Amino acid sequence: MLVTGNDILVPARAGKYGVGSFNTNNMEITQAIIHTAERLRSPVMVQMSEGAIKYGGQDLANIVIDLARRATVPVALHLDHGSSYASALKAIKMGFTSVMIDASHHDFEGNVKETKRVVEAAHAMGISVESELGRLGGIEEHIVVDEKDAFLTDPEEAVQFIEQTGTDYLAIAIGTSHGAFKGKGRPFIDHARIEKIAGLTGIPLVAHGSSGVPQEIVERFRKAGGEIGDAAGIADEDLQRATGFGIAKVNVDTDLRLASTVGIREALAANAKEFDPRKIFGPAREVMSQVIEHKMRVLGSVGKA
Ligand code: G3H
Ligand code: 13P
Ligand code: ZN
Repeated sequence: MLVTGNDILVPARAGKYGVGSFNTNNMEITQAIIHTAERLRSPVMVQMSEGAIKYGGQDLANIVIDLARRATVPVALHLDHGSSYASALKAIKMGFTSVMIDASHHDFEGNVKETKRVVEAAHAMGISVESELGRLGGIEEHIVVDEKDAFLTDPEEAVQFIEQTGTDYLAIAIGTSHGAFKGKGRPFIDHARIEKIAGLTGIPLVAHGSSGVPQEIVERFRKAGGEIGDAAGIADEDLQRATGFGIAKVNVDTDLRLASTVGIREALAANAKEFDPRKIFGPAREVMSQVIEHKMRVLGSVGKA
């Protein structure tokens, strides 16, 4: 069933488990996400970025909405990193049940102002809202420890931000960053900060950049002819701990990008004469399903629907 973000995330926060919010860009990714969720009896969120909307538009949104309506588990369609009020409203018109307004690049007051506008409009239509406070991608090798705090979410500010905006869930900067390359080795995750913010606030918290970049997938990517450097993402144990503290929405894109490319590369490497799209995108869907299953087990959402 198609539900709002709040319908999925409020129980997750209360039950101390995480729900994957996976980015989609086509039918196969959407099927992998929703069908895996059904198989594992897990709630799930499917998110489209503005880039995904540009690429797939209403066609892709309709695929998600149709699969979600027919699904036997709760599914929300979420706008990822909405950059403006207009973008959030457009998504709501398209049938999204959850929107993010990412005004985190503004100063505190500017962020509050932009977020509040979207919250008022979205709530009037029964849609829940994610916003962001802090700046992602902060912890890289070249950033010294003293500078670190400047990028991560301040707990007291988080309390004020939630009060002033009425946001339903809040993305916080805790050491994760977007993409496959997060500095050398696993990123440092500031668990103490998550615990503090969760202790001061009651709403679901969101972690962006939560791909784990599974080494097995990276190896298969290389073996099938792909070129990739020393990719590393968040460790499973770190993610599990974070959900225990109050991270309820866990954003994953890169893992599925890698998994689908592995499926495509392996299919083509196994048979250079192949040109049936179903024999190329089908394996991609299969590898993505395996990665999604692993993530759902790590997050503890299996059996919660
Ligand atoms: O956080 C960003 C997501 O990975 C979406 O990426 O804008 O390339 O679709 P995209
Ligand atoms: P990753 O691509 O690092 O998984 O991040 C996804 C994300 O945060 C989407 O908002
Ligand atoms: Zn993100």
